Amino acid sequence: MARILITSAIPYINGIKHLGNLVGSQLPADLFARYCRARGHEVLFLCATDEHGTPAELAAAKAGKPVAEYCAEMHQVQAGIARGFGLSFDHFGRSSSPQNHRLTQHFAGKLAENGLIREVSERQVYSVADGRFLPDRYIEGTCPNCGYDKARGDQCENCTKQLDPTDLIDPRSAISGSTDLEVRETKHLYLRQSALKDDLDRWIDSKTDWPILTTSIAKKWLHDGDGLQDRGITRDLDWGIPVKKGTEDWPGMEGKVFYVWFDAPIEYIACAAEWAEAQGLDEAAWQRWWRTDKGAGDVRYVQFMGKDNVPFHTLSFPATILGSGEPWKLVDHLKSFNYLNYDGGQFSTSQGRGVFMDQALAILPADYWRWWLLSHAPESSDSEFTWENFQAAVNKDLADVLGNFVSRITKFCRSKFGETVPEGGEYGPEEVALIADLADRIRAYEGFMEGMEVRKSAQELRAIWALGNEYLQAAAPWVTVKTDPDRAAAQVRFGLNLIRLYAVLSSPFIPATSAAMLEAMRTDNASWPGDVAAALSALPPGHGFTVPEVLFAKITDEQREEWQARFAGPRG
Ligand code: MF3
Ligand code: ZN
Repeated sequence: MARILITSAIPYINGIKHLGNLVGSQLPADLFARYCRARGHEVLFLCATDEHGTPAELAAAKAGKPVAEYCAEMHQVQAGIARGFGLSFDHFGRSSSPQNHRLTQHFAGKLAENGLIREVSERQVYSVADGRFLPDRYIEGTCPNCGYDKARGDQCENCTKQLDPTDLIDPRSAISGSTDLEVRETKHLYLRQSALKDDLDRWIDSKTDWPILTTSIAKKWLHDGDGLQDRGITRDLDWGIPVKKGTEDWPGMEGKVFYVWFDAPIEYIACAAEWAEAQGLDEAAWQRWWRTDKGAGDVRYVQFMGKDNVPFHTLSFPATILGSGEPWKLVDHLKSFNYLNYDGGQFSTSQGRGVFMDQALAILPADYWRWWLLSHAPESSDSEFTWENFQAAVNKDLADVLGNFVSRITKFCRSKFGETVPEGGEYGPEEVALIADLADRIRAYEGFMEGMEVRKSAQELRAIWALGNEYLQAAAPWVTVKTDPDRAAAQVRFGLNLIRLYAVLSSPFIPATSAAMLEAMRTDNASWPGDVAAALSALPPGHGFTVPEVLFAKITDEQREEWQARFAGPRG
């Protein structure tokens, strides 16, 4: 039994996530966590909401709520939807937690002690009416190049010219529209990542089992151009973690907060502390997951994220950890994803394009979505959601293959033998041969799951389901029963045991259905099939069961067309 720490990139607080976000980190992380638990490992699976930064402030302003209140509400909303999708976090934390305040300030203090922070004076645009400094993209004005009147401080969308806010003609605040802007001096902290370049280089070189995609992104940032840049880790915002050196004030940094990308990954650690507190456990309970001097030496740490997050996880966060000089756990394996597109374009939160998590759950149970998303995970390249594809996969894999198998066996048994596993002959050569095939496939499935090869795992699982259907078709107990009832009884007993086996193997993908299957088989024996032959005798003759409700309803063409139309425009 191993100890496995699993984190999913923490979703931004501002709004409900779409299915592309879900399949890019939280859902595959859940698949892996469920699998590891099913194999008997000790797992700590953490996620949280990413609550700081300008987008959170602006979303709160738009909702007409104080930002703390907005975040608290949205956290509850996201937590509810995560439960709806069966995401089995051990804790769903908040980057605004007191634990994260303390840890973020602690890391900044250590980095300063180690000479890795420098103070920089900058000139930035200040909006008197808004009472705040404006980041480049919150300043609008007329483009000096093409005359477009909604050019942003960093770039003109119309002619693509890169701009400085001071280039804009008639600049105004994108927040309030105020033109009462002035340039003011402000001091910020920079993390001297450049000083950590060699340490990071060595650490990444030691990761020989990482995918090339991951190491090449990291190496590019380390070596391209001027190499790794020092990074501003503070902002002039009201909402965020106040800048402190450990527990002490930081002279000159009054009223400033840490940059959201500095505190967000630290929440991975803080979340473990939140978990311990919520469980009534002590400090040692979470430190054994995170501090190599306190027992985390034998923890395997796996992170899940979208590809845009890779630099933050391979460079910035490790720089924080290495720079602290303290024995915190670094990531062992990092699994990143490409993008899922929606029907010929991109999913987009800002444009409300695609299907959002709450909408998905409102039309179909989570397992339909989990199966489609995971079996089409954008691993080696981007992938695309279309309603036709979704309908086809659900109807074929879930309804025709798995659902139909369960329904045929249980109904046939009820009609001929009653609702108990039938007595009768021993398993014959057909069953023995199938056991051998299943064993091969199950070992392959385990290999893919351990390697976090999501699509290949799904393919293997589907093939395992299909073997059951092929067996049933060939064995045809509804024919056998007429001439050799004992033989038919053995076939049905085998089929009923297959249902239990499928429930166990499928549980990481479709946990609710898997639970329904076990319940129908009236068993809580969910032990992993190390010995496949033994697993297929787990339900003995005389064991009672019930015919379950339809596990998966087919998606009709009318439904598909209706949803296609409903989700064609921007979210209302
Ligand atoms: N909120 C970020 C995003 O959705 C991810 C933050 S991951 C962390 O892209 F490492 F910063 F926590
Ligand atoms: Zn322009």
